[in-house]
Amino acid sequence: MAHPAPLTAPSTDAVRHHDPEVRGFASDNYAGVHPEVLAAIALANGGHQVSYGDDEYTAHLQEIFRRHFGPRAEAYPVFNGTGANVTALQSVTERWGAVICAASAHINTDECGAPERVGGLKLLTVTTPDGKLTPELIDLEARGFDDEHRAQPQVVSITQTTELGTCYTPAEIRAICDHAHERGLTVHLDGSRIANAAATLGVPLAAFTTDAGVDILSFGGTKNGLLLGECVVVLSPERVRAMKHLRKLSMQLASKMRFVSVQFEALLAGDLWLRSARHANAMAQRLEAAVRGIAGVTVVRPVQANAVFALLPREVSERLQKRYRFYFWDESTAEVRWMCAFDTTEDDVDSFAAALAEEMAHPITS
Ligand SMILES: Cc1ncc(COP(=O)(O)O)c(C=O)c1O
Repeated sequence: MAHPAPLTAPSTDAVRHHDPEVRGFASDNYAGVHPEVLAAIALANGGHQVSYGDDEYTAHLQEIFRRHFGPRAEAYPVFNGTGANVTALQSVTERWGAVICAASAHINTDECGAPERVGGLKLLTVTTPDGKLTPELIDLEARGFDDEHRAQPQVVSITQTTELGTCYTPAEIRAICDHAHERGLTVHLDGSRIANAAATLGVPLAAFTTDAGVDILSFGGTKNGLLLGECVVVLSPERVRAMKHLRKLSMQLASKMRFVSVQFEALLAGDLWLRSARHANAMAQRLEAAVRGIAGVTVVRPVQANAVFALLPREVSERLQKRYRFYFWDESTAEVRWMCAFDTTEDDVDSFAAALAEEMAHPITS
């Protein structure tokens, strides 16, 4: 019987519909796939492998995650960050359970209510000055444990780095975990940008997760150069129930999982994860330094990862948006967010800062 020709030389009927040299500052998700990740996907192609995670790549991935997070770590690749969060949170809560999180947490603001609608979870939100929870802030909601009228706090969810571009120190996370555990709460970490945090802190991933007492985390890949894929990493198996069933129930079980797993292998077997995150962070530092010198532009939050938040006249932002993609973070104050990615170049940053200076020099027309 004739076999189909092996896939070797890339040839396609698809047409390029974009300019691959155009980059903006809207989101680290706007970036493409890191070439080393793309090469890994091609490497895993061809032949047949068992589906739904019983493949060689996913098996090998367990060992790689254990190298980073310790011998008890269990890795569950999923499709996206929302799915990772919702699956992870369900595995550490009961039907009457609630999750304490910052009001600015992605699970609260940007997941279309999936933790509530899909996970069936009550979120107990706390306003924070900088996106970071503290033991004191947690206690605003860690109460009413015996009250049958109140959804029962069972989990604290923190984001590292936070949605506001700030980074918890290992000691801050340790204090949160100790406090949460004393109250019988489990700790989840949304690590959509966990690599950026390690790059900022200059410590291994375990230093602010496993060693600090975090029980389960959502490990981000997409924002750090994967095509798609995040991973739920269980660090305290005794606190987690039925992850594999919940992953399927939550529609996060990839049939061709080898292609998600091999991307994480490309990221984590060597130092690609750290190289890329360091670069994105360095570009944010460069951007901050460049825009700080422009009269009328104020950087309003500490730049501790790959995000720069700034205040400037709304009209200027609107004009600049015609030249570069970026978003208003807060429409009411006209605060903007500029994100850097693994593929942001020094030239991108310098040209953007020059364009901003040019637009700031224009008179405001309205
Ligand atoms: C902090 C944080 N968590 C989770 C996510 C969810 O990622 P996804 O868009 O893949 O669902 C994002 C995405 O922007 C995020 O910024």
